[in-house]
Amino acid sequence: MSNVLIKSADIVGKGRRDVLVRDGRVAEIGSVSEKSTVAKDVEVVDADGLVLLPGLVDLHTHLREPGREDAETVLSGTRAAAKGGYTAVCAMANSYPVADTAGVVEQVAALGRAAGYADVQPIGAVSIGLEGKRLAEIGAMAQSAAAVRMFSDDGHCVHDPVLMRRALEYVKTFDGLVAQHAEEPRLTEGAQMNEGAVSAELGLPGWPSVAEEAIIARDVLLAEYTGARVHFCHVSTARSVDIIREAKARGAKVTAEVCPHHLLLTDEAARSYDPVYKVNPPLRREADVAVLRAALVEGVIDAVATDHAPHAPQDKECEWAAARPGMLGLETALSISVLALGGPAEVDWDVLAERTSRTPARIAGLEAHGRDPQPGTEANFTLVDPSATWTVVPEGLASLSRNTPYAGMELPVTVQATFLRGRATVLNGKIEEETHS
Ligand code: DOR
Repeated sequence: MSNVLIKSADIVGKGRRDVLVRDGRVAEIGSVSEKSTVAKDVEVVDADGLVLLPGLVDLHTHLREPGREDAETVLSGTRAAAKGGYTAVCAMANSYPVADTAGVVEQVAALGRAAGYADVQPIGAVSIGLEGKRLAEIGAMAQSAAAVRMFSDDGHCVHDPVLMRRALEYVKTFDGLVAQHAEEPRLTEGAQMNEGAVSAELGLPGWPSVAEEAIIARDVLLAEYTGARVHFCHVSTARSVDIIREAKARGAKVTAEVCPHHLLLTDEAARSYDPVYKVNPPLRREADVAVLRAALVEGVIDAVATDHAPHAPQDKECEWAAARPGMLGLETALSISVLALGGPAEVDWDVLAERTSRTPARIAGLEAHGRDPQPGTEANFTLVDPSATWTVVPEGLASLSRNTPYAGMELPVTVQATFLRGRATVLNGKIEEETHS
């Protein structure tokens, strides 16, 4: 179905319109007569009461393939993405083997194309094996068929300042960027949760906020010194926001993302000792959540990124200290973002589109994504029902893993349909089983 007539969608910034898609691109917007289209093999989708957003773009997805296909595969992860309203995801490099060569990034991109549920843009590792010692084959990955632009050792910080400087100088030559997992490793040795009153009470070793802020401050300086682009992954503290705000005001080429869980949950959740709440960086204080929400509205934080981190049961359903950090995000990110931006009645859909789609697409250089419908643009959209709610049932998720912190919660807004180049990957809230035309 790449010829489709979407009837009466509420298009952000434009109001109610019909959108006619032919051969994967927007052909017409306005009032399109059904009669003129039915004869020409066009499927009609009634979007009355639905909001049409540019397809969501995730800057930070762990697809786990190659190597941990028991937790997620490119196929299952991109099905989860489509279900969450995403049309493109950037796949993090911490697979097994690590995505530190042209071969691995090309393999991940090819798996994404074969699956057909969302465009998969691989992120390359900064250092060989994520070891933080020697630069990975950045140039070869950039020149490969996967055309990698973003590089990250996510899960690990690029903490050696010389390595970081060299990586920045390298990516600058092709307008690439480094996505930094900001964590000064000496300050977080043995850490299990946010360092504060709750960690003291629970007797769990703390992850101090300054471990994040110290690296962000250093990398702002390195970005300014080299003139290269740095993106900060999963920003989680109020002081990090201050540093990024000041850096942007000075004109540093820095961008930042926040994860849905850092916009909603706090370190109070650790009192349950349920490892589903263990994540890196950890859930912080209420005061941080409030600052992150405000920074997202303001634009100091550029994007919502999921840090979708599927884990197999044996890695998550164990005692807190032994559990791997990370939580699922793709299928719940839109709902949590709406909550963080004031709830379905208050949310400014234009800001939501900016932070979940247009800006992340720009940061990643995904030109066909994050575009509002215009004649000629690729039809990468999602249709959401702003007045519906749904209950998170882990067994019902498309992800292969079950580690969602929202189990049993009723969340606002449902994804009714997702279109990738005009092809429905999700229709009537259900994943389409045949994605290839
Ligand atoms: O919680 C996390 N999980 N944070 C990271 O940085 C890595 C991720 C993972 O790969 O599981």
